[in-house]
Amino acid sequence: MTPRYLLPFDSRRASHRFTDVLVIGGGLAGLRAANAVESNQSVLVVTKDRLRESNSNYAQGGIAGVIAPEDRFEDHVRDTLVAGGNLCDPDTVDMVIREGPRRIEELIEWGTEFDQFNGSLALGREGGHSRERILHARGDATGQEIMRAVIKRTRELPNVEIWDNAFTVDLLTYEGRCRGAVIVDANNRPQLVWAKETILCTGGAGQVYRESTNPPVATGDGLAIAYRAGVELRDMEFFQFHPTVLYIAGSSRSLITEALRGEGAYLIDATGNRFMPEYDSRAELAPRDIVSQSIIRQMAVTKHPCVYLDLSHIDPAIVMRRFPGIADVCDKFGLDITSDRIPVRPGAHYMVGGVTVDRQGRTSLPGLWAAGEATSSGLHGANRLASNSLLEGLVYGAHAGEAATRAAAEGASKMEALPIQQSVHPSGESFDIADVRVSLKSLMGRLAGVERNAPELREAADSIRSFAAYVMPRQFNQVEGWELQNLLVVASCIVRAALARTESRGVHFRSDYPKCDDENWRRHLTLQIDVDGGHPKIGERLPVTDGVSNSTSESISMSGDAKR
Ligand code: FUM
Repeated sequence: MTPRYLLPFDSRRASHRFTDVLVIGGGLAGLRAANAVESNQSVLVVTKDRLRESNSNYAQGGIAGVIAPEDRFEDHVRDTLVAGGNLCDPDTVDMVIREGPRRIEELIEWGTEFDQFNGSLALGREGGHSRERILHARGDATGQEIMRAVIKRTRELPNVEIWDNAFTVDLLTYEGRCRGAVIVDANNRPQLVWAKETILCTGGAGQVYRESTNPPVATGDGLAIAYRAGVELRDMEFFQFHPTVLYIAGSSRSLITEALRGEGAYLIDATGNRFMPEYDSRAELAPRDIVSQSIIRQMAVTKHPCVYLDLSHIDPAIVMRRFPGIADVCDKFGLDITSDRIPVRPGAHYMVGGVTVDRQGRTSLPGLWAAGEATSSGLHGANRLASNSLLEGLVYGAHAGEAATRAAAEGASKMEALPIQQSVHPSGESFDIADVRVSLKSLMGRLAGVERNAPELREAADSIRSFAAYVMPRQFNQVEGWELQNLLVVASCIVRAALARTESRGVHFRSDYPKCDDENWRRHLTLQIDVDGGHPKIGERLPVTDGVSNSTSESISMSGDAKR
């Protein structure tokens, strides 16, 4: 059973802190939200590591936007809807894409230097995009450049305080409203941070899988703390695998950006065969769900643990100018990317599902807003289009920040510590946290990866349940323990939702249900704990529309899979 809080505390004796707006997470969405708060309100941004350690910072390819004079909003919208496997919310897609250029312009005003070509912004192409519309910076270091500028600007705001190396253990809730969070600060001291409004921008959960492009901080903490507080999560079965993650023994699993294929790189198998045209007419530039699934099949056909990217037919000067970071990483392993094949295979990349939000970033819990990868906004549907996520972080960060600042101004002017107590029973023997974490990540890759089926998902669910039985009731005093508890919550949500969706759609490929079933499954799955009764429930909610007609579906019963 999922505990409500992971740490014991008593608000009558705790150390307190008050802020108008609390932003949990210091990636692009979080900092954009902080920038949207009125200057007469106090903002506390809390980040579990250094401010630079976020998925945003590691983005290579770039940020998509309708910038070229010959590009059209309608085309970017269509590409997003097509990639999203008939599960996007068309109004959300339209809103984000139309607002995109304004947000990108803002980034430039704040000092972001995107790459230029002949005096104009240079635009690249990635899978699923019908034309060049990806802005990039310093070749393949787009996230770093954007975050450099946004961090600098945020640090200059007098009303914003930043706590780094501070771990948010849980959301504080009282009488059905979010009141802030329980945070263990950089000195390892638990603090109750009371906020008029709280914005959750905690990013991704790639660490739930062994092979992942995500940094070690991406442990799905925001999803787990929201879930424990009774907040609705949605579409958790949709975890996007990036097709091309560096596969060299001893290397970290570095992302090899899709922009390489945008510049013309081929995918070849161990025999040298360029196989993508056999799977899809868009070949290497098919949406990434199709490319990932094709690679997995081709690895099975060739009985080889990876495939290869081949750039040897592209002008070496272009390759070195566009991809200096990747050239550098590969060079450390003796590979020259202008002539050698780069070994790659799919790895966990992006959590498509997350905390359900409306267009303002409002969650199901009053007082809690959310933005970025931790959310399910309706933009990505069942599969995120490449380079749409930085855009989503900017747009939703701004919306959530604006909505939270309005709500904080309208709410009570005085804040007080509320009477909340929580006891957790520490359990005796210690055990090897890292060992359980590795086991969990391996089993998720093996049993709930690019391809899934019922027997394997059930096996995954059983293993997670048995780990949870002895990990969840424990009281840990260190980040690794809380992260493990969060990873277990997230893994459980992914597996239960993946088991429930008996069809294939977008990034969710069920080998036992290989067809997309619009009639029964063009809908979202939601997961939510009833915090009063303490029983998790899973159900069907929020039918999606195609913008033309409303398609409602009858609800499904999931009671058999609902218990942890
Ligand atoms: O391939 C990439 O550079 C990744 C882009 C993205 O995930 O949006």
